Amino acid sequence: MANGLDDVVAADTVLSDVDGAGGHLTIRGHSLTELAAHWRYGQVVRLLFDGFFDELPGDAELEKAIGDARVEVFERLQPMLTELAPLHIYSAMRAGIALLPDGDGLADALRLTAAPAVLTPALLRLSRGKKPIAPDASADHAADMLKMLGGTASPALAKALDTYLVTVCDHGLNASTFATRVVASTQAGLTSAILAGLGALKGPLHGGAPGPVIEMLDAIEASGDAAAWLRDEIARGERIMGFGHRIYRVRDPRADVLKAVVRRLGARSQTSSGKAGSRLAFAETVEQAALDVLRIAKPQRSIQTNVEFYTALLLEAAGFPEEAFSNVFAAGRVAGWIAHAREQQVTGRMIRPQSRYVGPVPDLVA
Ligand code: COA
Repeated sequence: MANGLDDVVAADTVLSDVDGAGGHLTIRGHSLTELAAHWRYGQVVRLLFDGFFDELPGDAELEKAIGDARVEVFERLQPMLTELAPLHIYSAMRAGIALLPDGDGLADALRLTAAPAVLTPALLRLSRGKKPIAPDASADHAADMLKMLGGTASPALAKALDTYLVTVCDHGLNASTFATRVVASTQAGLTSAILAGLGALKGPLHGGAPGPVIEMLDAIEASGDAAAWLRDEIARGERIMGFGHRIYRVRDPRADVLKAVVRRLGARSQTSSGKAGSRLAFAETVEQAALDVLRIAKPQRSIQTNVEFYTALLLEAAGFPEEAFSNVFAAGRVAGWIAHAREQQVTGRMIRPQSRYVGPVPDLVA
């Protein structure tokens, strides 16, 4: 058995396939590039949920139901938000989600889909001493997230955020999805399963990487020498954030989708931070330097750019602070987690692997 379960197949799924050698991501029969170019997040939620819930409505009705769920989550949790706001934004979101009912039905799934998108802007505003902005049930999911944040919800920015949510909606049996399926396999409710996914996503080796990408870009800019900074980092045994993947041996296809989104934003003047354009040019230089340094430092491993590198630039341009990047990742991935949890509940068996005992044995008493 490989340490880290590399190459172990732990589930059959109809949801997504990660082709690590070819650099392709398929989600329910559609390529990532097709979904990112033509689908809205609400439509992708329907694609993922299809077959796993009774009475799943059509696209337009489901998007409306997600809007209603945003309002319901806001009204349910608003009384508790002031208590949660002093926590780290990720912990506060997780604590808020833990208060939701723990059933397996469509209403539970919709509340959970809505929750990260509602809680993140509300908690951010409270932590800045501002009043939360209530969701608008009739708005598009991504556009409403930006409106609740109080930032510029230009159509271009809303489209960029929507494409991000689509891009990260599901990705095979990654650590957080596996954690979600383990909990769902015990027939615990969806909220319990999603909390497991949230726990796993938080780590810097998984969904916690994009915040440190911004810190890295700032530190490299201050140092004035990207290659030297990166070489020092690796010499100290540190990992370069936004690079490397367990499955991809070529460039993560999500990186290119998100880079194109950031490029489009940078070409427009109405981005909230105005940073996308200048950040992108610098980030491209750093990316090339990192690929060169990693190729020399780790010749035995093909370490390429992963999704988190351009996620950081996109979410920064959308007006989210670094500490909330993983929350926004969760807002996209939650639909994939829910679909996997349901697939596991419906088609799977309780996940209960074995461990090999390598500790001391008790003295045998005669
Ligand atoms: N920077 C420097 N070295 C890296 C690296 C990175 N980003 N990613 C992998 N490596 C190196 C490891 O140090 C190790 O080198 P060694 O054999 O000399 O010890 C080798 O590559 C294999 O690493 P391993 O931890 O076995 O690979 P993995 O499959 O578990 O790695 C990640 C996957 C994502 C955990 C890893 O690439 C990483 O930590 N990346 C940075 C964090 C990140 O961007 N996470 C988001 C992922 S989408």
